[in-house]
Amino acid sequence: MYKQLITIVLKVAVFVSGRGSNLKAILNSPQLKKLIVIKAVISDKADCPAFKIAEDNSIKTFCLGKKEGLIRYPELAEFLYSLDIGLIVLAGFLKMIPENVIKKFKNRIINIHPALLPSFSGKGMYGINVHKAVFNSSAQVSGVTVHFVDETYDTGKIIAQKCVDISDVASAEEIAERVLTTEHQLLPYVIEKFALNKIRIEDSRVRVIE
Ligand code: GRF
Repeated sequence: MYKQLITIVLKVAVFVSGRGSNLKAILNSPQLKKLIVIKAVISDKADCPAFKIAEDNSIKTFCLGKKEGLIRYPELAEFLYSLDIGLIVLAGFLKMIPENVIKKFKNRIINIHPALLPSFSGKGMYGINVHKAVFNSSAQVSGVTVHFVDETYDTGKIIAQKCVDISDVASAEEIAERVLTTEHQLLPYVIEKFALNKIRIEDSRVRVIE
């Protein structure tokens, strides 16, 4: 008798605040096509370009906020439960995720950071600020980190990192460009591993099974 293989499709919510190039990389990943479905793209900014990318791909968008018709932060966990979300991906989302969501989705929220954590991290360290700090430090190597999200900025356990040689760059913008190309590879890779249940948390370390 042949065993029937059942593929369970992982339901994902992607949080964005800006341009959405990482969202695009997830959508364009051939490996992820059969493994995940993006049930919602969520933002604190109704006019962010990432929403347009979602809409062009027939993905529902939802805005967070206090006004009528928006998802209120205290209701976010319930909303994510109602969509049966198994993984939350923060792809350039700039606001803090409420503590109750972090607790309820423990080890189910990942963030992409455009530098090698634990350096160049914390409040205010986002976007070009990160790359300026890296440039001004004269670091010769930067990179990308994908990590689990905990209650403080950029301190959750690291899942995967990739280095980028920046020894010959002339500006922070050049670092940003190089790092972004690597982000677009590393984030889909980690999501794929998560969907295949190949990310293990053992004692104080995270292990990704190849
Ligand atoms: C990326 O550099 C990501 O690492 C950071 O915010 C940026 C988002 O870019 N957290 P995009 O919106 O995915 O193009």
